[in-house]
Amino acid sequence: MTKLAHLDAIQTRIDHYLTAKLANLASNDEKLLAAMRYGLLIGGKRMRPYLAYMTGEALGAEQSDIDGVAAAIECIHAYSLIHDDLPAMDDDDLRRGQPTCHKAFDEATAILAGDSLQTLAFDIIANHEFSTAVADKRINLLRYLVNAAGYQGMCGGQALDLAATNQPISLAELENLHALKTGALLEAAVIMAAECSSKASENDKQQLAQYAKYIGLAYQVRDDIIDITSTEAELGKPSGSDIAANKSTYPALIGLQGAREKAENLYQQALQALSTLPYNTQNLSDFATFIVCRKH
Ligand code: IPE
Ligand code: IPE
Ligand code: MG
Ligand code: MG
Ligand code: MG
Repeated sequence: MTKLAHLDAIQTRIDHYLTAKLANLASNDEKLLAAMRYGLLIGGKRMRPYLAYMTGEALGAEQSDIDGVAAAIECIHAYSLIHDDLPAMDDDDLRRGQPTCHKAFDEATAILAGDSLQTLAFDIIANHEFSTAVADKRINLLRYLVNAAGYQGMCGGQALDLAATNQPISLAELENLHALKTGALLEAAVIMAAECSSKASENDKQQLAQYAKYIGLAYQVRDDIIDITSTEAELGKPSGSDIAANKSTYPALIGLQGAREKAENLYQQALQALSTLPYNTQNLSDFATFIVCRKH
């Protein structure tokens, strides 16, 4: 498919915001700050920010409010990848075509860079200059972020992922693992953006949450597929690393073809959820298409 609409503009916008945020931190330990910059600003498709901005656009939210949501979520994502690559977890040497953070710096610095990016996410939600209506909802935004990032979300999913290494699990368990480790943060991007809109009804939010659940799962199913089918050059991270680490993945459980069919099914369900919404959701449906087609 052709490129996603507005992707370049969104990447520029979010990079600008995050660059300024790091530049404004009080000078403390230069090496740690360099590692944070490395993990946050070098590469990355910015899919979670994209999803937040496109949801916000569909629902008539202010872009300046979405800035805070998108930046906070991207900080959590960047921290999760730095920690995911550590020797104690996936032990990967390459990320976004570059040495992983602990290779470019050292393990202790990578751990602290992850920790600092995580707290930076909460700093952003606490201090971003939201419009008055959204500032009143800061605590709701924090709740969504906490649920998506922590034990009930990404961290919980990462723990289940590690526990399932060298250990076969059922399809239902795999789905739960995926929903937590990857789905939760993508869902937060949609839901937190919807929270910034005064238009979205409870029913709209529920449908958007359904959409996000389906594409969140599709994102990870696709990640598992391209781990097998794409090259290291395409991925910017090692290929075949799930098999090498004996990870429970969709292709491992139901085969490559089964995984492709699963992704297609989830895609159709995502479109179905969008079709009930009384907004122009073209960019969100294009995003779903992008997810199931992406090669990196
Ligand atoms: C990779 O995420 C890890 C998963 C959660 C599947 P992305 O594919 O969004 O990674 P970047 O940010 O573009 O590098
Ligand atoms: C990582 O999943 C998900 C999180 C960091 C939350 P993976 O371990 O599959 O991601 P990659 O393949 O290393 O990007
Ligand atoms: Mg992992
Ligand atoms: Mg990994
Ligand atoms: Mg993977």
